[in-house]
Amino acid sequence: MCVIEERPVIETQRLTLRVPAEADAERVAAFCADHDVARMTTRMPWPYSRAHAQDFVARCGTQDRSRDNTFAIELADEGLVGTIGMFTTAEGQIELGYWIGRPYWGRGYASEATRAALDWARSAWRKRYVVAGHFADNDASGRVLVKAGFLYTGVVEHKPSIARGEPAATRMMVWLA
Ligand SMILES: CC(C)(COP(=O)(O)OP(=O)(O)OC[C@H]1O[C@@H](n2cnc3c(N)ncnc32)[C@H](O)[C@@H]1OP(=O)(O)O)[C@@H](O)C(=O)NCCC(=O)NCCS
Repeated sequence: MCVIEERPVIETQRLTLRVPAEADAERVAAFCADHDVARMTTRMPWPYSRAHAQDFVARCGTQDRSRDNTFAIELADEGLVGTIGMFTTAEGQIELGYWIGRPYWGRGYASEATRAALDWARSAWRKRYVVAGHFADNDASGRVLVKAGFLYTGVVEHKPSIARGEPAATRMMVWLA
């Protein structure tokens, strides 16, 4: 088994990926209060409160890093601009998920963070296989995943979305190291 650092940090050209801290809760709450962020995810609660954000960062701090790793995506001089995580599913696969706060969309941050997280998953976590899915009406996320090297499997699942209140068609993808 691969043992990884207690508090891994990943540096990219413009971003630092690190374990979320209590002080991040305020920005997490502000960005996740945006329904257009929450509705593209399966698990994000809705409406999203400050307590949800505090609970989220607290859980990130106690993850079993052999199974789950969530990172704050930090931009120098700004603070947290989003998060990215890789989790062990019930089936034992590693699944990737992320969001970026609306003021920071369209600057390539999700793409940069995704590539870096996958590099880390391969080199530090020794993972060879990562899955992801995006809702069929989320072409921007599809672009992020394709650019990072994910391929469409052709499988479309109907995954629940708390913020939508109903399942949504989800295009499943896979990345091989
Ligand atoms: C999806 C999301 C993460 C993208 O973040 P971002 O930092 O703006 O992404 P990037 O700038 O790295 O890349 C976005 C890509 O999508 C493209 N794009 C943006 N809007 C698009 C649209 N409506 N249709 C098609 N492509 C679109 C951009 O042109 C860019 O591709 P390019 O580099 O080839 O030009 C962000 O919008 C978000 O957090 N959305 C809500 C939560 C979410 O969707 N999470 C992912 C769940 S699977």
